[in-house]
Amino acid sequence: MNDLHLARRRPARLRRQIEELEESQIVEVWQLGFGRKNLIPLWVGESDMVTPAFIRHAAAEALEAGRTFYSYKRGEPELRDELTRYMNRLHGTPERPAPIAVDRVTVTTAGMNGLMMTMECLLEQGDEIVAVTPVWPNIFAAARIMGAVPRPVALDLTPQGWSLDLDRLLAACGPRTKAMFINTPGNPTGWMMSADEQRAVLDFCRRNGIWLIADEVYTRFVYDRATAPSFLSIAEPEDDLIVVNSFSKPWAMTGWRLGWLTTSPAFGETLGKTVEFNTSGTTPFLQHAGVVAIRDGEPFVKEMVGRCRVGRDLVHQALSALPRVEMVRPRAAFYAFFKVDGVRDTVQFCKDLLLETDVGLAPGAAFGPGGEGCVRLCFASSAARLSEAMERLAPALR
Ligand SMILES: Cc1ncc(COP(=O)(O)O)c(C=O)c1O
Repeated sequence: MNDLHLARRRPARLRRQIEELEESQIVEVWQLGFGRKNLIPLWVGESDMVTPAFIRHAAAEALEAGRTFYSYKRGEPELRDELTRYMNRLHGTPERPAPIAVDRVTVTTAGMNGLMMTMECLLEQGDEIVAVTPVWPNIFAAARIMGAVPRPVALDLTPQGWSLDLDRLLAACGPRTKAMFINTPGNPTGWMMSADEQRAVLDFCRRNGIWLIADEVYTRFVYDRATAPSFLSIAEPEDDLIVVNSFSKPWAMTGWRLGWLTTSPAFGETLGKTVEFNTSGTTPFLQHAGVVAIRDGEPFVKEMVGRCRVGRDLVHQALSALPRVEMVRPRAAFYAFFKVDGVRDTVQFCKDLLLETDVGLAPGAAFGPGGEGCVRLCFASSAARLSEAMERLAPALR
């Protein structure tokens, strides 16, 4: 195009919600780490373990066998069956041994895609979504893309741990509230909602016609019980409940992009339509590996959780010995989310810390109200790597 054409050019517009999207503050710090040779990256939510060989081989075999065609919108039948059995094993109770039927399960291209499709289905311009914070910032971004308004309700940091004022959560809902978002166990705090609180929230949502979105991707990462309390154990199949899950964390499959949603059968059909216009279905040879991960992967999940328990204790012991640090030992998920006395601008603090120590942490400000003055460290790494990080951090946090 010549200069004359450029001079006459009227810039084409993006949707306002996209123009207004802010860069993640985690990414802002992360970019500063590019190319640093000695870096210990503890800022993102993943372990340093490669996906186990038996899962990688299952994908390679399915690829070799030619499973390369368009797939079922709601997922391959064998994977949906396997997921149904898996969730009934986890969330069945003596009163209701098998709360999940296969028509409630939809495979997604990981948790984020499940969340974004959920927002597409529920949220209109001006709708409000009430969410417990501090929380993974992608949730608010996804809601804002749809033109919705997030209403955060902050947890309180008490000496016993992060705690929710349930009355404050329910009082935050008003006539424009379309959905409530609860991430339990929570990223970044490790907070877990009790079964009684879940009953109260579900009951409130039922009475007020509010969708309940429960992000349970960390449900396996609990350190003093077998699994976290799940809304799936108490909800009826027809409830307006959407539970988000993912292969990313328990099976070390973050790069694969494989997850699933559990919903009412009717909402599952809606999702089937939505999938067509997002991904048109999830990669079939990866879905086959998902079947193998669930069927044969329990020993690996136990190993992964055991490793995180060691990491949690190591990090907690090292950090709580530092007078400027306030940290409660998380009961779940795989993050230390701790306050550092005197820190106001956590983005600048994480940048300075990175340049000084070559340890990458995520700024608390990114996670919304409640995260002020805090930083997040992912402890899903080897003990050797975490020990080295603690040695480097100690002088800087003293
Ligand atoms: C709370 C929460 N939900 C969902 C996800 C999505 O994970 P994925 O898209 O890899 O399944 C993450 C990832 O960190 C998360 O922390």
